[in-house]
Amino acid sequence: MAEKQLDDLFLDTLKDIYYAERQILKALPKMAKAATSPELKAGFEQHHTETEGQVERLQQVFEILGKPARGKTCDAILGILEEGKEIMDEYKGTSALDAGLLAAAQAVEHYEISRYGTLKTWASELGMKDAAKLLDATLNEEKKTDDSLSKLAVSAVNLAAAA
Ligand SMILES: [Fe+2]
Ligand SMILES: [Fe+2]
Repeated sequence: MAEKQLDDLFLDTLKDIYYAERQILKALPKMAKAATSPELKAGFEQHHTETEGQVERLQQVFEILGKPARGKTCDAILGILEEGKEIMDEYKGTSALDAGLLAAAQAVEHYEISRYGTLKTWASELGMKDAAKLLDATLNEEKKTDDSLSKLAVSAVNLAAAA
């Protein structure tokens, strides 16, 4: 068997984030429904729309590689989303629910930022400029989402939780 190379790692990691994004796509409407703060609800809804575009970008990267768009089970995202679900169950009806949801959402964004940062770098190293551009566009969306969640956390949500 041939030794595995960076392009194998790139494809495997692409499948990992493709799987993760599709799980996130399913989780975001539930998080939006659970959130009580209108800003947080709107934020989750907006990121759901963005995530649809991110899935399409990943499909384009698979196309560039000439590979079928296929996911590979990502235990990390399943764990992070499971923790989010626990918050929804355990803090339902409490003033701390939004703070918990927000923290769970930031854990998701940080996972994505880590993956897209890596994939973008590897795409560049492998000479795939167009793929790097697509991955960078999503990386920037994830960073922006993380920033707006941080801003929301210090304003509305934490105040509500402390009240
Ligand atoms: Fe995403
Ligand atoms: Fe995201």
